[in-house]
Amino acid sequence: MISKKLLVGIAAASALMLSLSACGGTRAGLGGGGNEPGGNAGALVGVAMPTKTSERWIDDGNNVKSKLEAMGYKVDVQYANDKVPDQQQQIESMLNNGAKALIIASIDGTALTQQLADAGKDGVKVIAYDRLINGSPNVDYYVTFDNEKVGVQQGTSLLQGLGILDAAGKDTGKSGTKNIELFAGSPDDNNAQFFFNGAMSVLKPYIDKGTLKVVSKQTNFSQVAIQQWKQETAQARMETLLNGFYSGKQLDGVLSPYDGLSRGILNAVKSAGIDNPVVTGQDAEKPSDKLILDGVQYSTIFKDTRKLGDTAAEMVDAVMNGKEPEVNDTKTYDNKVKVVPSYLHESVIVTKDNLIKEVVDTGYYTKEEVEKGE
Ligand code: BGC
Repeated sequence: MISKKLLVGIAAASALMLSLSACGGTRAGLGGGGNEPGGNAGALVGVAMPTKTSERWIDDGNNVKSKLEAMGYKVDVQYANDKVPDQQQQIESMLNNGAKALIIASIDGTALTQQLADAGKDGVKVIAYDRLINGSPNVDYYVTFDNEKVGVQQGTSLLQGLGILDAAGKDTGKSGTKNIELFAGSPDDNNAQFFFNGAMSVLKPYIDKGTLKVVSKQTNFSQVAIQQWKQETAQARMETLLNGFYSGKQLDGVLSPYDGLSRGILNAVKSAGIDNPVVTGQDAEKPSDKLILDGVQYSTIFKDTRKLGDTAAEMVDAVMNGKEPEVNDTKTYDNKVKVVPSYLHESVIVTKDNLIKEVVDTGYYTKEEVEKGE
């Protein structure tokens, strides 16, 4: 028979062991029962953003921070200047500072395996923000836009700008050949391939039947991708294409996956002194909004990043309280280790016709900002 006194002693000792093991280690994650409701109130959340060179990421960082702070969390937002080692270090130091959840917009979607393994060991939950993190089992959720559809919208708006499709997306039956060039985003960003594939799904049938002609013949992703989404690299490539393939030829359209690249492309066109082709974009950045209102850039894809920020913060709040965040896609985003449960938001094609309605009337930017371009 074990005496009552002994039982009490065993219970006390195991309670002590439990609390010691909860204190063990230098980092405090969600493990060890820390995710019961209210258990993580006021906890630190690390937010890793890729760069400040594009204004959308600055807006993203601000949105996520204010939303999480309104929920009572402490927030550490870091920008990595498009440098992978900087982002790796920033994430390590967030973990060392006791972050209990991470929201990460990666630079290179394959370069964070070690940092995420550390997070996983500590029970820190990881939300991939806008860009999928590949090759790691420690990505818990993904919030993004429907990236394939963004590409479809880019291809569609190029065809609309060229008069091949009408406003409703119907073929106009227009004959003749339009000369175009293709650009894609950074190969280390998982989204870039989705955008390109989506766009090519609508452009390729027209390339195949000769309505569209890619004069340079550069149609593979690897030939048209722009490392780190750099505006100056896109400008240099457009200059090379114009010099090499367009003497005496008209350039009618350019598929561009991001406003920064679009502005580089338009700079090259401007210095060559040729007529403006139809140029697409993405992100509704202020300088491009102005170019669209001025009739220089044809279109952009508006992604209301406030929604992304809200969902990311809600996902964090759910996991911090031991709940399952809401997702609406459980099959598309396979990171080569697992299919990451995702929440996809919708994007909108924006041209001169609906820019004010979509970007200004929704309160994203003011009329003054889009008219000034800053
Ligand atoms: C984002 C785009 C953005 C691009 C360049 C992508 O991952 O989804 O919205 O245009 O990065 O910053």
